[in-house]
Amino acid sequence: MKRKRSVVTSSPRVRDPYLGPLRLGLRRPRTRPQAAASGSPAASSGWPGAVSGESGLPAASEADARTGGRAVPAARPEIVDLSVDLAPRRPGRLVLQNPVMVASGTFGYGIEYGEVVDVERLGAICCKGTTLKPRLGNPPPRVTETPAGMLNSIGLQNPGVDAVIERYAPLWAGWQVPVIVNVAGESIDDYAGVVRKLDGVPGVAGIELNISCPNVGRGGLQFAVDRDAAAAVTAAVREATDLPLLVKLSPNVTDIRPIAQAIEAAGADALTAINTLSGIAIDRRTRKPLLGNVYGGLSGPAIRPVALRIVYEVAQAVDIPVVAIGGVSSLEDALDYFAAGAVAVQVGTAIFADPEVPLRIVDELRAYCAERGLASHLPLVGTALPARPNRPSSKGVEYRP
Ligand SMILES: Cc1cc2nc3c(=O)[nH]c(=O)nc-3n(C[C@H](O)[C@H](O)[C@H](O)COP(=O)(O)O)c2cc1C
Repeated sequence: MKRKRSVVTSSPRVRDPYLGPLRLGLRRPRTRPQAAASGSPAASSGWPGAVSGESGLPAASEADARTGGRAVPAARPEIVDLSVDLAPRRPGRLVLQNPVMVASGTFGYGIEYGEVVDVERLGAICCKGTTLKPRLGNPPPRVTETPAGMLNSIGLQNPGVDAVIERYAPLWAGWQVPVIVNVAGESIDDYAGVVRKLDGVPGVAGIELNISCPNVGRGGLQFAVDRDAAAAVTAAVREATDLPLLVKLSPNVTDIRPIAQAIEAAGADALTAINTLSGIAIDRRTRKPLLGNVYGGLSGPAIRPVALRIVYEVAQAVDIPVVAIGGVSSLEDALDYFAAGAVAVQVGTAIFADPEVPLRIVDELRAYCAERGLASHLPLVGTALPARPNRPSSKGVEYRP
């Protein structure tokens, strides 16, 4: 177990996390959030893996109902089992000790944070996007702060898959925490090529496909927005490896459900949702686009309602596990995503402000479950989903302004 060291705090929010030395931490919260959040799940669980009581309510709610709202007997936090299987179709291949992961592009290769975070206590690490050849990324400026979030246009700066295998995989192989390699490419061959190299490498526990990349052979249309392309790249990668395979959905689509279903049918073990939303910023001095690449990806609390909606839709459309990403910075955020059908969450942008957020959520989730007499967080999964899951929507888009 690594010891934590106090972090130097400077404001990294409007700086490029990939330029210069890492500046960890922003402002630590003056007061820690409560160990347990209030509010109890209201409806029956819609996720097949969820463990619910005889009434169909999560255990805490069931007990609340039986005792007329009196306190549920507390369990000892150490007997709460937060483990979750992200690849049930490949038993035992990707079982996380807890459902709090760190998101790709916000935690480097895990090594960078080793001095300040006990990485071994995380559920899993999704490393930086990795491509076949090294990439320098986009021209600066590459990040800017936005209301309740940030825009980034890092452009997949990375040393390439060979360097990742040589430099980082041997270190990961000595860790208990699974490291999932986030893979990007510009063609199906690119993706399959990277994954073929990663297949069987000790230290690589799984693959997360970043399909929010332009498909050069199809006029630059992103794989993630085209159902057939998303399915084709998933199938090609599935063919290239039997490593647990997570595919990361883009929010920049009209209806995510058919895309999610096509990816599931093509062999994904789990879905992660969501990647950043497309956005731009204007330099108020020059009145020109601020980012060197003009377009950037919006992340942070600003995208949470969108991500929640997508998780809610996807969880009803597929049978494989869904991992939620988008503005998670507290236990309450994670609980919302569980209610919407996610079995695990990833923390991204919040890490730049406070690298301790993921482990704080783990500890608070354990305490939350213990206080409600829950042996696991799984009864909390899917409580907000409709009673009859998979009901086809005739509307496609549920919200009309
Ligand atoms: C600086 C930065 C770099 C990112 N790089 C990647 C990447 O390489 N691959 C990827 O799939 N997602 C990448 N993402 C997206 C995040 O993994 C995550 O999906 C998104 O930021 C939403 O989560 P958040 O609001 O918690 O940050 C990046 C995000 C940020 C902020």
